[in-house]
Amino acid sequence: MAKSPGWPAELTAGPLVLRAPRLRDGRLWSEIRIRNEYWLAPWEPSSPLTWGERNAVSAWPALHSALKAAGRHGTMLPFMIDYGGRLVGQMNVSNVVHGALRSCTVGYWVDGSVAGRNITPTALALVIDHCFAQVGLHRVEVDIRPENAPSLRVVEKLGLRREGYYERFLDIDGGWRDHVAFAVTVEELVGTRMVARVGALPPAPTWRSMR
Ligand SMILES: CC(C)(COP(=O)(O)OP(=O)(O)OC[C@H]1O[C@@H](n2cnc3c(N)ncnc32)[C@H](O)[C@@H]1OP(=O)(O)O)[C@@H](O)C(=O)NCCC(=O)NCCS
Repeated sequence: MAKSPGWPAELTAGPLVLRAPRLRDGRLWSEIRIRNEYWLAPWEPSSPLTWGERNAVSAWPALHSALKAAGRHGTMLPFMIDYGGRLVGQMNVSNVVHGALRSCTVGYWVDGSVAGRNITPTALALVIDHCFAQVGLHRVEVDIRPENAPSLRVVEKLGLRREGYYERFLDIDGGWRDHVAFAVTVEELVGTRMVARVGALPPAPTWRSMR
């Protein structure tokens, strides 16, 4: 199969690295996800499985394979977010469509213990620049529940354009939830890059002192 444009890739800004998922991420991925249930569950797709089942170490190999396959096929760019050398979250570029549309949707989460450090806006800026320069896309969309103030702040920091309000758009946390759609197209970044819009990242934590 031909290589997908822009994948696999490693995107870096100081202590922040976005990289492809690894099979050995499973233990830490599961530990973070289970510890963050109340932080993450309101914003995650509905599922018949319990949070513990969906995020068990044993769930990772199948998810890892699915993410890798989607990356290879070019329908997704599944990034793990490392900060100071440690996994802290995920950023998935999904619904990648080429042809006349050349668009994608980005979703993300970080460990609540590192929230508020500008990690997600920086990661999103890197991903948007990558989607335009390396993947050849024209438009990046982010859909956010109107109740999700921290995520609305992320797109505000990057100056993404509010495109519309989708009623009962995604099946999230047990129901069809309204979302606000934000987007940016290549034309809005002529002569500049999205990373130029984000503030500095604080130095990465010393991980041992946080645990
Ligand atoms: C949305 C999310 C990814 C933002 O990530 P982040 O790396 O913390 O982003 P930022 O550092 O830019 O913080 C954004 C805002 O969150 C708020 N925030 C910061 N720390 C917070 C905390 N501990 N608890 C709640 N909100 C917090 C602040 O208002 C901040 O804005 P500010 O920098 O102007 O003060 C993160 O909150 C998260 O993972 N939430 C749960 C999953 C989720 O909502 N995913 C997105 C679905 S669309």
